[in-house]
Amino acid sequence: MAGRIPQQFIDELLARTDIVDLIDGFVPLKKAGKDFQACCPFHDEKTPSFTVSQPKQFYHCFGCGVKGTAISFLMEYNHLEFLEAIEELANKAGLPIPQEASLVKTDSNLSELYELLELVVRFYNRQLREHPQSKRAVDYLKDRGISGEIAKSFELGFAPPGWDNLIQELGSSEAAKQRLAKTGMVIKRDNGGFYDRFRDRIMFPIRDPRGRVIGFGGRVLDDDTPKYLNSPETPIYSKGRELYGLYQARHANKDLQRIYVVEGYMDVIALAQFGINNAVASLGTAATSEHLERLFRATPEVVFCFDGDNAGRKAAWRAMETTLPLIRDGRQAFFMFMPQGEDPDTFVRSQGRESFEDTNTYLALSDYLFDSLKQNTDLNTTQGQARMMEEVIPFIRQMPDGALRKLMVRDLANLVNSDSDYIESALGSGTSARRSPSRPVRRQQNSGSDNLIGRMISMLLYQPDLALRLDDYKVLEGVPVAGVDFLLELLQLIQSNRGISCAGILEHWRDTRYEACLKQLAASNNELFSVSTNLEAEFDDALARLLDKKSRQKLQQLATGKLSSLSEEDKATLRNYRKTEEKN
Ligand code: UTP
Ligand code: MN
Repeated sequence: MAGRIPQQFIDELLARTDIVDLIDGFVPLKKAGKDFQACCPFHDEKTPSFTVSQPKQFYHCFGCGVKGTAISFLMEYNHLEFLEAIEELANKAGLPIPQEASLVKTDSNLSELYELLELVVRFYNRQLREHPQSKRAVDYLKDRGISGEIAKSFELGFAPPGWDNLIQELGSSEAAKQRLAKTGMVIKRDNGGFYDRFRDRIMFPIRDPRGRVIGFGGRVLDDDTPKYLNSPETPIYSKGRELYGLYQARHANKDLQRIYVVEGYMDVIALAQFGINNAVASLGTAATSEHLERLFRATPEVVFCFDGDNAGRKAAWRAMETTLPLIRDGRQAFFMFMPQGEDPDTFVRSQGRESFEDTNTYLALSDYLFDSLKQNTDLNTTQGQARMMEEVIPFIRQMPDGALRKLMVRDLANLVNSDSDYIESALGSGTSARRSPSRPVRRQQNSGSDNLIGRMISMLLYQPDLALRLDDYKVLEGVPVAGVDFLLELLQLIQSNRGISCAGILEHWRDTRYEACLKQLAASNNELFSVSTNLEAEFDDALARLLDKKSRQKLQQLATGKLSSLSEEDKATLRNYRKTEEKN
C-alpha cells in the first residue's frame, strides 16, 4: 500500500512535519531533558513513560512499547489507514498529494484495475435485476431472508450461468481480457483463450477501507461445491490483509466502539440487516496479525464469533494466539461461541439482536485462555499447577506491558496458589522477545559481526549524518558479513537524502520484514549511546573493522589460490601478509 504514494513525497512530508508539534496538539507534551514526555495516550499510567524525540522524529512508550513516526502516530491515535494519515499530514503541511500523473507507472496500472472492478460490480448488479435467469438468484436471497435494502447496501450481484458473460461485456480487446485476468475475474486457458471465473453465483463485492473494490466472493445457489469461490491473490487483493465488511462498518459508524469478527459473508450481511452493522469477516482464512492491527486501528474492542463445534474451537484458539501479542491497554478482545449448529446468521435470525449483543455471553481473552487450559488440568495437584504455569507463561511472555498482562499474572498466581512476584520471576527467566524498561539494558552479548552491523545501524538511526563520513558506501560491497547488504542500502539512502531523520528512514521500510527490527533499534538506541560516547570514532572504528574483514578474506583467497590469476600487486600483498603472520 505504501507504494502508491511516491517515497519522495513521504520524505518531504516528514521533513516538513515536526512530530513534537503534531503530538502536542493531541497530547500536551512536557520537555524532559532533550526529549519530550507525557502520560502515554495508548495505555493507562500515572507517571509519564511516553517519550517523543525531536531529532529522531520518533515516539516511544517505555511502558507499553508503542513506537513510531508521525505517520504511525496518526494511524494509531486517530485510527487511520496509512493513506488517510498521509492525507492528514499533507493537509497540515499544506502540501498537495501528488496526483496520478506523478505516480510511478505500476501504480497507474493499479488504478486501472480498481476502475475495472467498479465496472464489474455494476455489471453483476445489473444482472441481478435484468438477466433472464436472475429470478433464481433473487429467490435464493429472499429464501435466506435478505432484504432488498441490505442486498443493495452490500451491492450484491449475480454472475449468470455461462463461460463468457463478463468477457463479452468488458473484454472487447486482448488487452482488456488481460486486464480482467489480472483482477482475477477471468482465467486464461492454456491454449490462450479466457473464461469467466464466477459463473451462476451470488456475487459479494469486497471493498478495501478506502472503498475501492478489490475482489469478490461468489456463492452457489444450491448445494454444489465449492460453496464459495473467492478472488485469487492479485496485485490489489490479499486475503491475509482484507476484511469483508470493514468498509461498510466504518461508513455506518462514525465511531466504532466494537467490531465483531465472523466467519462468513452471509454472517456479516445478516447481522447488518438486524442493525448490527459493525461485523467483518476474514475471507476464508484465519485472522492474521495484519487483520488485527487493522481492526484495532478502527476500534478498541474486537469480539470474535465462532461456531460452537470443534473446528470453531480450534479457530478460536488460533485467533487467541494471534491476538495476545497485540493486546495492550486500550485494546480488548472477547470470544463468543455460537450454540451447536448455528452461525451468527442463523443465530441473529432466530434469537434476535439483543441476544447476540448480550455481553454476558462474551468471554474475555484471558478467561478464554484460562478456561480452555483448566479443562484438561487438575489444579489440585502440584503437577497440574506446574503444567498450568508451563502452558500460560509463554503466552504472557508475548504480551506487552499493561493492565491485561498484570491481570493475567495475578490470575495465574491465584490458580497455581502462588504470588505475582513468583510468576514475574518465572517470566523473567527464559527467553523473552520483550524487554521491560525496569530491567537494565544488557550489553549486547553475541560479539559476532552481526552485532557490529546491528550497532552501526543503530548508530545511523541515532545520528544519520554519520553516513556522510564515508565518501563512497560502495567500498563496503563484498564485506563478508551478514547484513552488510542492508547496511549498504541504508548508507545509500542517507547519502542521497541529506538531513533525513530517523523517522524518515523508518518510513522507507514500512510494511517490510525489516520494519519491526528497525523500530526496535530506533527505540533502544538512546540507551545504547551515553552522552560520553564518541559516536564518530566508534563509527569509524566499525567501518575499519568491516573493511579489514574484507581484506582478510581477500588475502585468504589469495593464499589458498582461490583467486585464479595473481597480479604483481596481489603477490606483493601476499608476501607482506605471510611475513606479518610469521611474526605473530
Ligand atoms: P461456511 O461454510 O461457514 O459458510 O464458510 P457460511 O458463511 O455459513 O455460508 P452460508 O451461510 O452457507 O452461505 C464461512 C466462510 O468460509 C469461506 C467463505 O468466506 C465463507 O463465507 N468459504 C467457505 C470459502 O471460501 N469457500 C468455501 O467453499 C466455503
Ligand atoms: Mn451460514
